[in-house]
Amino acid sequence: MKKFFITTPIYYVNDVPHLGHLYTTLAGDILARHYRLTGREVYFLTGTDEHGSKIAEAAEKHNQSPQAFVDNISEQFKQVWQKYDITFDRFIRTTEEEHVKVVQQFLTDLQARGYIYKGEYSGLYCRGCEEYKKTSDLVDGLCPVHQRAPESLAEPAYFFKLSAFADQISSLIDSRQLEIQPESRRNEVLSFLSSGLEDVAISRQNVEWGIPLPWDQSHTIYVWIDALINYYTAGLKVDCWPADWHLMSKDILRFHCVIWPAMLLALELDLPKSIFIHGYFTVDGQKMSKSLGNVVNPLEMLQKYDRDVIRVFLFKSFPFGADGDFSWELLDRFYNGQLANELGNLVQRVLVMADKYCDGIVPKGGGSVLSELTLDFVQNTRKDIEKLAFGDALNHIFSLIQLANRHIDNIKLWDKSNEQAFINQGIAELIELIRHLSIALLPIMPDTAHKIAHSLNFDLKNSYTKDEYETIIRWGNYLEGRKIVVPEVLFPRRGES
Ligand code: MSP
Repeated sequence: MKKFFITTPIYYVNDVPHLGHLYTTLAGDILARHYRLTGREVYFLTGTDEHGSKIAEAAEKHNQSPQAFVDNISEQFKQVWQKYDITFDRFIRTTEEEHVKVVQQFLTDLQARGYIYKGEYSGLYCRGCEEYKKTSDLVDGLCPVHQRAPESLAEPAYFFKLSAFADQISSLIDSRQLEIQPESRRNEVLSFLSSGLEDVAISRQNVEWGIPLPWDQSHTIYVWIDALINYYTAGLKVDCWPADWHLMSKDILRFHCVIWPAMLLALELDLPKSIFIHGYFTVDGQKMSKSLGNVVNPLEMLQKYDRDVIRVFLFKSFPFGADGDFSWELLDRFYNGQLANELGNLVQRVLVMADKYCDGIVPKGGGSVLSELTLDFVQNTRKDIEKLAFGDALNHIFSLIQLANRHIDNIKLWDKSNEQAFINQGIAELIELIRHLSIALLPIMPDTAHKIAHSLNFDLKNSYTKDEYETIIRWGNYLEGRKIVVPEVLFPRRGES
């Protein structure tokens, strides 16, 4: 079976990573971890987009050569991902020699098939978006994303016959052979396609920092064409084609849902199966921007909270397809409420009781009051993750946590009149629930999942075969007779700030 292929956009290295980049990359990591856990081989790709005028301009501002500049920032992206324990299988850089060769071959093949012709591009270009613009895309003459006036270009350029593919792409989206989610984004692409497509310039004559066009070295390849091909460079030698999920937000929807499929159709390559357009973050109600000084830096977040806290917060608090407004207050409240009071408290209570009433040994027996519920929650969580409904998945997990906490309040194992058999049954059952919880939490909160498993003396791994996975998610008294350890409090309460 081919590897399950997940991609993030490759990020521009004009600046260091921020919350938005982190969000997409974490989503990819959750999916990758989920599939490894449930028995699939995975290929998870991320990386950096390093060519083009925007990056050359940033390098110049820093008085560095473009290469030295991109080496530095690309490395910073990689280091941030490592600090978040992002399990990418490949980190691609568009300045790699291997990628440069693949891009040139891709373009040569497009030309050989008659999809490229020479013309003249005369119109607008926003360097911030690295995108050709129409007057109708502007607001008060400015690019609405970058608040800057686009440049006027009039230069010879090579064009790709994008217009030839509008109908074909529409029908592939219609039939869901190319799935675009959420539905609203799918409709947006379909409506855009229904008015037909114009050919797109794929080369720049006056941008030096780029990959030379193989048959005309006076042009470099338009940075977006170069960038999209990264998925192909990385996927080429690995048994993973086509992509199962391309993840991104709305800013780059058209490139991925229109130009990219057309490029693949032109070379008769398989199209991605699905594209997910997640929401866009603002911070305290405003667009993140350097000039407002409100850019949320992933390293700054780690100074305040452990990575698991940030991971679960971002995906529990904001539905994956909807825009979200980040604030530190929300994060603080989430931490004390759902992590300290609910999840942390549950694990602590159960293990302390097991220690106190059963000498720290998982007792025989084990009731089945919670079994059906737990298994239901676990199944639903799994289905939701596979639909990329991470928020729903976490809602299931946290309802189970609340339910277990209520169950503990109800059965009152601490009541002096309890028989030991009743206590044993209750403890064994709660331990089994927590074991299931550790498995369900693994993709989203890997450190916490491992900490919980460790306290239970349960050997939780990051990847299993399908059969092994089926075995560990069966309900039973899996840990009977094992010695448990009472962990340190997982999420100590903090003063509200
Ligand atoms: N280099 C191109 C992508 C090429 S892919 C072949 C690019 N880079 S980017 O650095 O601008 O990254 C854009 C992506 O970063 C978005 O599509 C999204 O995945 C993530 N985010 C950037 N800002 C974001 C928010 N404010 N909110 C959520 N995610 C956003 O475009």
